[in-house]
Amino acid sequence: MRERSFVMLKPDAVKRRLIGDVLNRFERRGLKVVATKMMVINKELAEKHYAEHAEKPFFKDLVDYITSGPVLAMVIEGGECISLIRKMVGATNPKEADMGTIRGDYAIETGRNMIHASDSTESAVREISLFFKDSEICNYILPDEEIIY
Ligand code: TYD
Ligand code: MG
Repeated sequence: MRERSFVMLKPDAVKRRLIGDVLNRFERRGLKVVATKMMVINKELAEKHYAEHAEKPFFKDLVDYITSGPVLAMVIEGGECISLIRKMVGATNPKEADMGTIRGDYAIETGRNMIHASDSTESAVREISLFFKDSEICNYILPDEEIIY
């Protein structure tokens, strides 16, 4: 089933020049990038995006971190890509993330864990609409789609 996920490279990933490495992993896997936007998130958007964590003790630090520099927000499309991308991202705490996952290969701290990815179809729909207008998402066919899917 074709799905869209909201993925975001956090400020540490951008500042460490890891945009290319991470995008390369998604492209090599056969996923399709259908929208990207580099932006500095304001506090209001950060609080909406992470609303489910509003009562958690780490919420303020999380909002400070995610608004501390540019992020690369994107929409990625592919067959059952929401769970697939979560698997590629790895555990929330990078110390527990498997080697070969993005967090397991590049990060150490939960508070600097490089990347966000939607955890369900409902979150994906909600998060994509927070960051992108429909007109900013591109519909196109890759020449090798019939080989991959
Ligand atoms: P969460 O949605 O639980 O993790 P994930 O990003 O894997 O979906 O938490 C959102 C972010 O909040 C997480 O990426 C990093 C931060 N966070 C902390 O700083 N401390 C914590 O104890 C937890 C659980 C998350
Ligand atoms: Mg989450």
